[in-house]
Formats: sequence, C-alpha cells, structure tokens
Amino acid sequence: MIELSRRNVILGGAALAGVTVLMMKPGDKSGPRDAYFLDVQKALISAGIAVPTMVVDKARLNANIDTLKGFLPPGMGYRIVAKSLPSLGLIDHVRKRTGTDRLMTFNLPMLLEISQAMPEASQLLGKPLPVVAARHYFERLPLEASGAAENIQWLVDTPERLAQYASLADDMGRDMAVNVELDVGLHRGGMVAGADLKAMMEAIKANPRLSFAGFMGYDPHIASLPTAMGWRDRAIRGVRTGYAAALAQAGEVFGADALAGITRNAAGSPTYRNYQDTEIASEVSAGSCLVKPTHFDTELLEPHVPASFIATPVIKSLPVTQMPGLEFADGATRAWNPNASKTVFIYGGNWLADPVDPPGLQYNKTFGRSSNQEMLNGGPDLEISADEFVFLRPHQSEAVFLQFGDIAVYEDGAITERWPVFDYSA
Ligand SMILES: Cc1ncc(COP(=O)(O)O)c(C=O)c1O
Repeated sequence: MIELSRRNVILGGAALAGVTVLMMKPGDKSGPRDAYFLDVQKALISAGIAVPTMVVDKARLNANIDTLKGFLPPGMGYRIVAKSLPSLGLIDHVRKRTGTDRLMTFNLPMLLEISQAMPEASQLLGKPLPVVAARHYFERLPLEASGAAENIQWLVDTPERLAQYASLADDMGRDMAVNVELDVGLHRGGMVAGADLKAMMEAIKANPRLSFAGFMGYDPHIASLPTAMGWRDRAIRGVRTGYAAALAQAGEVFGADALAGITRNAAGSPTYRNYQDTEIASEVSAGSCLVKPTHFDTELLEPHVPASFIATPVIKSLPVTQMPGLEFADGATRAWNPNASKTVFIYGGNWLADPVDPPGLQYNKTFGRSSNQEMLNGGPDLEISADEFVFLRPHQSEAVFLQFGDIAVYEDGAITERWPVFDYSA
C-alpha cells in the first residue's frame, strides 16, 4: 500500500487513486474446504490428536522420492540431507525407499544420534564443524557405535581448519577422511582451484592420519538467477568449470586412479535436476524437495508435491472480526476486505508457515502474530468450528519440523506412525 500511495502522489490525482483502490479491492477468497484436508482432519481426530502437529503424508512423500529417483541419470548417487528431513524415522523411510546409505549431516548432536542409530551410514558434514565440536564427537561417541566414525567425511573449508583437524586426528589417534568444500559460485566460503587448494591436498596426502574423501560444491544460487539472457546457464557453466578445475588438481595430486572412488557431491533440492550426467558430480544431495515446504515452490520442483503440513486445532471460531480499540472501523474493514469478515484463533501459531486450508485464511497484521493463540481471518464463507483443524504449509522444514514433537504420518486415511524429530536444528 505504501508503494501505491507514493505512485498516486507522483501522478497527483485523487480520482486516479480512487480508481486504483477500487481495482485493488480484494475479492472473497474463502470457499469450501478441500476434501483432502477434511480427510486428514478426520484421521487426526480419530487418532485423538488435539495439539499442533506436523503431518507428513506418506503417499506424497513416496511420490516425491520416486520423482527424485526418476530424474537422476544412470550412476548418479543420492545423499539424504538430514537437516531437512530431521527425524530418524523419516530418514530411515527415505533410506529404504531410495536404497541409499549416504547422509549429509549438519551438527554435532545430529552426527552423534545418526552414528548410534545408523552406524553403517556414510555421513558427509554439510558444514564444517569447529574442531572442538569434532573433538567432542570422538569423546562422546559410545564405544558400541565407534565404527560409525570411520564412515564420516569431515568437511574442511580452509587450510587453517585442515591444520586443526590434522592436529585433532593426531591427538585422538584417529584417522579422519576429509572432504574439501568448494566455492562453485555461492560464495559461502570454501576453496577454488589454485595454489592453496593444491597445498591442502598435498597436506592431506602427506598425513598418514588423513585421507582425501572428495569435494562438496553446493550451488543453490543457480535457482535464484534469472534465465533471461543466459544468466542461469552461464552460472551453471561456471559451477561445472570451477568443479572440473578442482577435480583436475586433485588428479594431479592423487593420480587419476585414486580419484575414481571419491565423493563428488553437488546440488541441493532446487538444483539437483541440473545434474543430468556424472561427469562432474557423482552424487546429489537433497532433502527439502521430498516434503516440499513453500520455499521450494519453484519451476524445477513443480513435479514434487507438498507432503508436509502443520495441522492445528481451532480454539475459537468467531462470526465477526473485531479489532481491539478499533471496533468503530470493523464494518468498513469488512466492506473493504471481505476476507477479514470472520475470525479463528488457532492453537499455537507464529510459525514460519502459510495457512492453506480452509481456503482464504490469512494473518491479521493489525492484530499481530501470536505463538499462543494466533488470529486468522477468513471470508463470509469460512465454515470451521472449534476443535476442527486448520492446515498450514511450512516455509522450510529444517527448523519448523522440530517445533511439534513427533511427526504424525498420514497414510490411507489414518495416522499410522509417529516419527520422533531431532532435538536440535543448528
Ligand atoms: C551443503 C548443502 N547441500 C545440500 C543442501 C540441500 O538441502 P535441501 O535439499 O534440503 O535444500 C544444503 C541445504 O542447506 C546444504 O547446506
């Protein structure tokens, strides 16, 4: 609205402002509830669930897994991004259906938990951990899971961190496999081909406690670039050229044969479909596209379907919307914006999420957000009673999934399983 009034001042016409305002008057967006959400609601009520809950639809999850697998070219490995599917049950399901043993892990508690639950899984760190956190890993890993440490690829981003890890390996008397983070254009740190990278790889080669596990080059920036005038294609070529140069250097240091088995990790959900051969990457990592929060509503991910929803009970359903202290304006607001006619207060709120059912529900900027009982407004056709459920789509999974306790797995019209989530996201 600020943009609008500024434009009107520039054009200097009150009449024009009136016309513009009429053109912008929002229509009634509410309507009948989606049969799908009514079915999920029925399942939640039958399961006796009456608190805000993260629901994962197993059939939709499976469809997304199959979509992902269908897009991978022959020989391309798949690595599960654990932070985006932050639950052992969920990861286990994805592992079984994809047949992969590769995970990307992002923090110390997650590393420890996965090491104990899935000691045979390969874990590539998705971000470099401070060396003290790496030390804590070895100190805290229970003896019976100690084999898991051999399946970890420790991500290093600088010569300094490599030197720290070399000292740690020495101190602990442990071998460490090192994966070098590449900057393939995201500019979130990491190495590029050149003298420093070569020196790092030579240092790894010279150290009997270290081994070279491969590279990780993450490129989500590609998805945000415009396709116009070849921008995106140019950036994709930049990713490939930068990665290829690093691989060539690794070949010089370790020899071409030694490179055959290394991890050449690339991509994320928004970009995995760009890897249609295994010339550069030997595996892609992705997680979010399997549950598809709203941030992943992109063109390339169109074949993926939303598979995760916050379901929360309505605490109060009110036939009118009243603004505290501004009641005199309620009628005018309703006339101007029919979507503000009715009100529900939901159990909890203030999540990184958008309401999706009943249709047309929206937050009220004037009333504000609430983590306790959040106000949502809808149009005159809004029909929902206390104890029924409102559904919201999370913007992202990694933090939002952790806010609701065990995931409720929805399958064939029922809640069939509960999957505990991780304790930590960072
Ligand atoms: C290193 C790395 N690889 C891959 C991913 C992709 O994760 P997702 O598929 O959930 O977007 C991420 C996400 O942050 C990441 O940090």
